[in-house]
Amino acid sequence: MKVLLGMTGSVASVLIPKLAKAFLDAGHDVQIVASEAALYFYRPEKIDKKLKRQQERDPNKLAPAKCWSEVRVWTDEDEWFRSRHVKIVRHFDRYAEQAHQKDDPVLHINLRKWADMFVVAPLSADTLAKMSVGKCDNLLTCVFRAWDFDKPVVLAPAMNSFMWSNPWTNMQMNILSNVKGPNVQGPSGGRNVHFIDPQSKVLACGDEGIGAMADISTIVDVVNGLDETQPKAD
Ligand SMILES: Cc1cc2nc3c(=O)[nH]c(=O)nc-3n(C[C@H](O)[C@H](O)[C@H](O)COP(=O)(O)O)c2cc1C
Repeated sequence: MKVLLGMTGSVASVLIPKLAKAFLDAGHDVQIVASEAALYFYRPEKIDKKLKRQQERDPNKLAPAKCWSEVRVWTDEDEWFRSRHVKIVRHFDRYAEQAHQKDDPVLHINLRKWADMFVVAPLSADTLAKMSVGKCDNLLTCVFRAWDFDKPVVLAPAMNSFMWSNPWTNMQMNILSNVKGPNVQGPSGGRNVHFIDPQSKVLACGDEGIGAMADISTIVDVVNGLDETQPKAD
């Protein structure tokens, strides 16, 4: 299964390499989409020269990864690089061709078409709020806003326990839990956004309480379980 793994601005994003590796070990293909704040907690390590050259030759290619260090981390810069670049250097004609052209691929749509499942782990309070109202101001939330809800979404919130117990969290989770895929069959009644609740731990801020992201093994089990229920191509 093609798993698009979203990471957001929670300390639990440091676990992304382990989570990506666990998905690869389970036989899934993985691409990562990161919010700007997520990169504060996890920056992809330097990628090897061969891989870098490949990515420069074909910057939009969704190439399969053989090991977790080859898993591509897509960021807002990949989506908006060209237009931002043009803004900075707009007085220089020679850069004008870098503006978005009519037939250029649109990254969030390509990622949405590529993926069989969207797993956001960790899900921050901020991205939860944006998703619940359909806001789409970055690559990750654009993918979610364009999502085909016949394909499952798995969300693993991670936040301080004050944020977790705040009434907004429950209200926004309720909205998303009722989002339906029009053709999904089964006991869920078509509901296809699946939450994995956080667990109780000593949190990064030193407080103890519910808010830490669920264990990686729990997340992988949920994804594998949903994979088994998906219609398979002949
Ligand atoms: C050190 C630090 C740790 C944070 N940890 C979390 C967290 O675990 N969960 C959360 O929802 N927000 C956390 N935040 C706040 C988010 O980073 C912030 O709301 C950010 O805007 C989230 O953006 P995003 O949802 O686009 O990734 C943390 C911020 C800092 C500075």
